[in-house]
Amino acid sequence: MSNNFNEALANAQSRINRALDNLLNDYLDSIGGIETRLLSAIKYSLLAPGKRVRPMLVYAAAEAVGAHNAADVDMAACAVECIHAYSLIHDDLPAMDDDDLRRNRPTCHIAFDEATAILAGDALQAMAFEVMAKSQLPMQTIGTLAHAARRMVDGQAIDQAATNQILSLTALQSMHSDKTGALICASLKLGGLAANANEEQLAKLDVFGRAIGLAFQIQDDILDITASTEQLGKPQNSDQEANKATYPRFLGLEGSQAALKEQHRIATEALQGFDNCQTLFGLANYIVERSH
Ligand code: IPE
Ligand code: IPE
Ligand code: MG
Ligand code: MG
Ligand code: MG
Repeated sequence: MSNNFNEALANAQSRINRALDNLLNDYLDSIGGIETRLLSAIKYSLLAPGKRVRPMLVYAAAEAVGAHNAADVDMAACAVECIHAYSLIHDDLPAMDDDDLRRNRPTCHIAFDEATAILAGDALQAMAFEVMAKSQLPMQTIGTLAHAARRMVDGQAIDQAATNQILSLTALQSMHSDKTGALICASLKLGGLAANANEEQLAKLDVFGRAIGLAFQIQDDILDITASTEQLGKPQNSDQEANKATYPRFLGLEGSQAALKEQHRIATEALQGFDNCQTLFGLANYIVERSH
C-alpha cells in the first residue's frame, strides 16, 4: 500500500470521526435530549474504531468526479456510516450471528442489553435519513440510500435462511451483493451525486462499486478463516461455527482468492479513463489486501 494512500486513508478517518462527533452533538442540540442509555449505546457503536471504508468511498467518489460541497459530502458519509453501524449492531445480536466482539470491544448487546442494542440500531437508521434530509444533497440521494439499506436487510434475511443450506454460486453472489455490496455501491453513488456526476461517471462508479462491494464480502469471508480474533477485532471462525453460506465454504480458499482477484480486475478496469481516481484505485487494493 503506498504511503500516499495510507495518508489519504488516515485523513479520511480523522475527517469522518470529526463529522460523526459533530453530528451527535448537533443531533442532541436539535432534539433536546435522548434517553441516556440509548444515547450511550449509539455513541458506543458509532464512534468505535471502524475502518470507515464506506465514508472513504463517499469522499473518494466525490473527489474523482470534481467540485462538491464538503459539508454535504460529510453528511452523506455520516449517513452511510450510521446505516453501517446499525447493520453491525443487529448482525451481532443473538438472533442473528450471536457474536460478542466487534471492533475489539464487546458487541453492543453485551456492553448494554439486547433491547438497547435493537433500539440503538433502529435510531441509527432513522438518524441516517434525518442527516440526509438536512443536507443540500439532491433528493435522489435519499432514495439511493433507502434502497441500499433495504437491500442490506434483504441480504441479511437471505443469509439467515441460507445458514446450513447449499446455495448456487449465483445465489451466493447475489446474497453478498445485497447484504454488503449495496451500501458500498450507494456510498460511491452518493459521493458522485454530491459532485454532480454525469451518467457516464455514475455508470463507471456503479460497475466499480458492484465489483468492489462483492470483493469486500469475499475478503470478509476469507478473513473469518485466515485472520486471528486479535487481528479482526471480531471472533475468528464465526462463519465456520454457524455453518454460514460463505465463499470459502463453496469455493475453498483458493477459489475464493481467485474470485476476489477477478472482482478486483473488474473494479480497476471500470476506472479506466476516470480523472482523479487514485484514491479509488487505492481503495480497491485496500479492500482486497486488507488484513482486518
Ligand atoms: C463488516 O464491515 C461487515 C461487513 C459488511 C463485512 P467492516 O469490515 O467495514 O467493519 P468496520 O466498520 O471496519 O468495523
Ligand atoms: C454482515 O456480514 C453484513 C452486514 C450487513 C452487517 P457478516 O456477518 O459476515 O459481517 P461480520 O463478519 O459479522 O462483520
Ligand atoms: Mg452476518
Ligand atoms: Mg456477522
Ligand atoms: Mg463476516
